[in-house]
Amino acid sequence: MTTDDAGVGGRKGPDGMRPERPGMDAGPRIGKVAVIGAGTMGRGIAQVAAMAGHEAVLCDVDAGQLERALAGIKATLDKGVRLGKVAGAARDEALARLAGTGGLGEAVEGAELVIEAVPEVMALKKKVFAEVEAVAGAGAVLATNTSSLSVTGMGAGLRSPDRFIGLHFFNPVHIMALVEVVRGERTAPATVERSLTFVRGLAKEPIVVTDSPGFASSRLGIVLGLEAIRMVETGVASPADIDKAMVLGYRHPMGPLRLTDLVGLDVRLGIARYLHESLGSDAFRPPALLERMVAEGRLGKKSGRGFYEWDD
Ligand SMILES: NC(=O)c1ccc[n+]([C@@H]2O[C@H](COP(=O)([O-])OP(=O)(O)OC[C@H]3O[C@@H](n4cnc5c(N)ncnc54)[C@H](O)[C@@H]3O)[C@@H](O)[C@H]2O)c1
Repeated sequence: MTTDDAGVGGRKGPDGMRPERPGMDAGPRIGKVAVIGAGTMGRGIAQVAAMAGHEAVLCDVDAGQLERALAGIKATLDKGVRLGKVAGAARDEALARLAGTGGLGEAVEGAELVIEAVPEVMALKKKVFAEVEAVAGAGAVLATNTSSLSVTGMGAGLRSPDRFIGLHFFNPVHIMALVEVVRGERTAPATVERSLTFVRGLAKEPIVVTDSPGFASSRLGIVLGLEAIRMVETGVASPADIDKAMVLGYRHPMGPLRLTDLVGLDVRLGIARYLHESLGSDAFRPPALLERMVAEGRLGKKSGRGFYEWDD
């Protein structure tokens, strides 16, 4: 996986650089998009929305973070231009459509879609959505980028849970083509349709998932990762050879153990515990080796050592 590509996602638009105009064929067109939280994910989502022709307003309670996010988006697009992946005019137009603010009300006012990307804490997200709902227009779609929390539970306190949905983007947002569109118990079909149109307009590929722990991607990806760890544990093969089996035998772009090192062993352990608890299947029981490695601080790339040694 690389962050060298500053394009707008998996599918190219008609001019080879930008996707089709978004939101033309299902429900009222989504014009302005407000993104709440300007961290890793929020800045990426704002970038692809602006590149796809939306007015995009990024909002964060931390002014320094907001400044870094806007500078980061500009740097990524500049790099895209240098690499010939983004047209100079497309970058300039996208940056002209992008704004930042510390005021949630200002960000949400007039937005047809609000995407929340604040930290993965249910109480914080619910608080943000209560504030968002108080200022959002009646027709606005409200979406969470949560990677694990219940979409149904998060939307339960809203006056209009029918317009609430999960839009699970992947990191780095401008590179990864997949978006999981997560349908909560009370999400209206029209909300799903408008979200699908929006996602396709970003030149990304949506899949529709019924709200359940791990959605589709984490649930399946974690099983593979945990089984690979159990195979290391029982001496079936070395980490490098297990990864090679998936890369060369199944054409995965990267083996499950290398991916575990990149994501962080602690992060994967947390997800495994949560899925084991919520789904009750032994497939998600954290292997003893994973528990031990995390306890020893072998967290993968970020700590310099996981299943592999990392120099930088
Ligand atoms: N990082 C990933 O790889 C990834 C991938 C998919 C989904 N997600 C999900 O996306 C969400 C955000 O993750 P992230 O990695 O971007 O987090 P992050 O910590 O990088 O960014 C969160 C941002 O939210 C801001 N914030 C906190 N409270 C706020 C508030 N009340 N109003 C406005 N801004 C507020 C913080 O200042 C911070 O800038 C989480 O739900 C996470 O699970 C993350």
